[in-house]
Amino acid sequence: MTQDELKQAVARAAIDYVVDGEIIGVGTGSTANFFIDELAKIKHRIKGTVASSEATAARLAGHGIPVFDLNEVSEIAVYIDGADEITAAGAMIKGGGAALTREKIVASVSKQFVCIADGSKLVEVMGKFPLPVEVLPMARNAVMRRLASLGGQPKLRLKPGSEQAFITDNGGELIDVSGLAITDPLALEAQINQIVGVIAVGLFAQRGANVCLLGMPEGVRKLTF
Ligand code: A5P
Repeated sequence: MTQDELKQAVARAAIDYVVDGEIIGVGTGSTANFFIDELAKIKHRIKGTVASSEATAARLAGHGIPVFDLNEVSEIAVYIDGADEITAAGAMIKGGGAALTREKIVASVSKQFVCIADGSKLVEVMGKFPLPVEVLPMARNAVMRRLASLGGQPKLRLKPGSEQAFITDNGGELIDVSGLAITDPLALEAQINQIVGVIAVGLFAQRGANVCLLGMPEGVRKLTF
């Protein structure tokens, strides 16, 4: 099975977690895109969605699925999204697709977080995938120095094929921190959140996943936390 087939299988399996008549939080990235395409097939069963990025909002709208502003919504039944790395305890690194801040906000108001990922994302210790941190542009260098003092190698994310900083949906910039062995994700998330100028860190430990559907060649493996 290809990686895309594994992603498609978990996206299909995630449909079982969609709550009829409710608002569904929708993540960002290639796995989330497969989920959106599956959700389109049962769109008549839900009230609508809240999107975690402009790209996801556009894909949902393209399928004719209603997209609500989070400020119009008081409760989200379930949030479904991918991850860049996930541990057996349900902590994740997210943000490879640049949407970590909105993903964190939507996840924080959702009753359940269902992570969908191909099996390669399951790791013992996170940090091989560079940890994304969204920052206010004026604080970029100050935050990079603080992140370096934590033992990582921070690098500004650039627009593909350019020397200019990548700009997020929120007007922020992204610093990708490599070389970290994240043995205590909860503590590191709290520590990075304390750095002035940080908008959000792509560590989802405080609000981790409740369920993870992992695509394996032998089928979809379910982890609950
Ligand atoms: C988007 O910002 C990310 O958090 C994605 O959820 C993560 O990068 C996984 O993306 P893929 O599903 O494309 O692997």
